[in-house]
Amino acid sequence: ARVALGIDIGGTNTKFGVVNHRGEVLEKGSLKTDEYEKVEDFIDALYHQISPLIEKYGADKNFDGIGVGVPNGNYYTGTVEQAPNLPWKGVIPFAEMMQDKFNMDCTITNDANAAALGEMLFGAARGMKDFIMITLGTGVGSGIVANGNVIYGHDGFAGELGHSIVKPGGRKHWSTGSEGSLEAYASATGIAITAKKMRAEFPSSMLNQYPEEAINSKTVYECAIKGDPIAIEVFRYTGQKLGEALANFVMFSSPEAILLFGGVIKAGDFILKPAKLHMERNLLPIFRDKVRLVFSELPEADAAILGASALVWEQ
Ligand code: BGC
Ligand code: NA
Repeated sequence: ARVALGIDIGGTNTKFGVVNHRGEVLEKGSLKTDEYEKVEDFIDALYHQISPLIEKYGADKNFDGIGVGVPNGNYYTGTVEQAPNLPWKGVIPFAEMMQDKFNMDCTITNDANAAALGEMLFGAARGMKDFIMITLGTGVGSGIVANGNVIYGHDGFAGELGHSIVKPGGRKHWSTGSEGSLEAYASATGIAITAKKMRAEFPSSMLNQYPEEAINSKTVYECAIKGDPIAIEVFRYTGQKLGEALANFVMFSSPEAILLFGGVIKAGDFILKPAKLHMERNLLPIFRDKVRLVFSELPEADAAILGASALVWEQ
């Protein structure tokens, strides 16, 4: 049977899989993205890990190609450009470099677009024609589906909702320099910043039991489930910023649902409840109580791996 390689690149981790037409992930693996300062070294490491799998599935003749979801990836040009959360700077001919290394066709898209495609074909968005995928990880990404199609826009970069401003003049983004973006608050990176600020203000918070470098969305979650009110407040505030942004997004494209995906959703209701509250509160009445806010249905990174592999067969 024919297979494809699906690769989901994130700011911190990269996950890959061998996938068949039915959306079954037959093999999986991962590596650290942020360990490779040079994109060449990253692609070499990827190849080193994946080539045994390619052999196992009968060498490249059985593969229809490679699909990649990558931050700031451009479907039209195959390039990755100036990604704020990747170590590689400038304009990178990523698809071409992959093709040369793997000797297979390679198609890329934005990582959140890939996740949207995966959910549309195999997950929670099956049968939906209008929805928005929001990915909450090292960065915040989005895939906007309108009329059954991912919106690419004029340049191919449409759907950078993570960089929309949720607090004018607010927190400065560590890489882009923008002030008050959704990503600066609702990404894992943003949550860590909020947590560090809040624990400094509240010495009694359990968050103060950790060294600075251990403060991340996972440790905040651990404190929140133990009932630490400051950790719970970190997520509530994050959820509020997210919900306010979601209201804007809903009014932009009138989606049937908003899907949330990525590491941060492990915080569950701690974020989902305030997000829903603040989304509804800020919506124009015609949109209220209509838009479902749900978590991705596919396990782990499968949505993005599946969506990336679907690019291969879409060609
Ligand atoms: C990038 C997006 C990406 C998102 C999630 C953002 O910083 O600009 O392209 O989808 O992070 O990785
Ligand atoms: Na996008």
